[in-house]
Amino acid sequence: MTPDLSLQLAPRRERNLPLANPVMTASGTFGYGTEQHLFDIQRLGAIVCKGTTLSPREGNPHPRLAETPCGMLNSIGLQNIGVEALIRDKAPVWAAWRVPVIVNIAGDTVDDYARLAARLDSIPGVSGLEVNISCPNVKAGGSEFGADPAAAAQVTAAVRAATSLPVLVKLTPNVADIVSVAAAVAGAGADALTLINTLRGMAIDVVRRRPVLGAVTGGLSGPAVKPVALAMVYQVAGAVDIPIIGCGGISSGRDAIEFIMAGASAVQVGCAGFANPRAPLDVLEGIEQFIAEKGIASIRELVGAAKG
Ligand code: SIN
Repeated sequence: MTPDLSLQLAPRRERNLPLANPVMTASGTFGYGTEQHLFDIQRLGAIVCKGTTLSPREGNPHPRLAETPCGMLNSIGLQNIGVEALIRDKAPVWAAWRVPVIVNIAGDTVDDYARLAARLDSIPGVSGLEVNISCPNVKAGGSEFGADPAAAAQVTAAVRAATSLPVLVKLTPNVADIVSVAAAVAGAGADALTLINTLRGMAIDVVRRRPVLGAVTGGLSGPAVKPVALAMVYQVAGAVDIPIIGCGGISSGRDAIEFIMAGASAVQVGCAGFANPRAPLDVLEGIEQFIAEKGIASIRELVGAAKG
């Protein structure tokens, strides 16, 4: 018997989002999927592309990356090609793919998010939106919205009203109470939640006596954040009844199974791909091996299993 790895990320929506398996790529770590030739990306559950804004962006001053023990800091600042180039150059490629592509959208204002959602609504090749209210590296928008339940709900409701696509909302861990933000976003019409984005951090160059990153602070990702992400997934899963996508330091099938047992329906692999470009596929094969060894018929049996 072949175990069933499939799931639904937007089970209540007419334009729903079926995934063949729970392994997705995390926004900003996998480009547009078109750059990747090291493994068959059609085997993945879904691809999430780089955060996309209405106009192209140059991003933050360099340096933008710093390695840390068990992870990395980034301060990219949402460098991206802009929504029109994405529609012209990337979406037609995605339209021929089996793997669904979800566009991560970011804006400075609520209206920016709504305009992006409306523009992408009927573009072939776009299977869903991930609303980025959690980027710690921009002055306007980003985690400014994600830090406040009312503002997070306002962005979500505006996107929901502008599109019939499945809407995922990516949350920031840089808050006192992620559960209240998650509940507000779920109440405003999100189909699923992605958590977590990066934790704000910094590094100092002691020779130059200056911050390492051009933008001073950045977002921490990688194995160092996994326990934080796992705890937040567990907490939020107890409070909302929409699917959760776990993200944060996942580099193996076992890591992914931990997130699924904490309550995630799917997982995103991000930072691990910088050290091992095959990481998303390794995670998928690790999940397959785990459930085959344990004789589990469907991955859905494991969602929230650690809750007892
Ligand atoms: C960035 O572009 O600065 C990172 C994106 C994010 O954290 O959402």
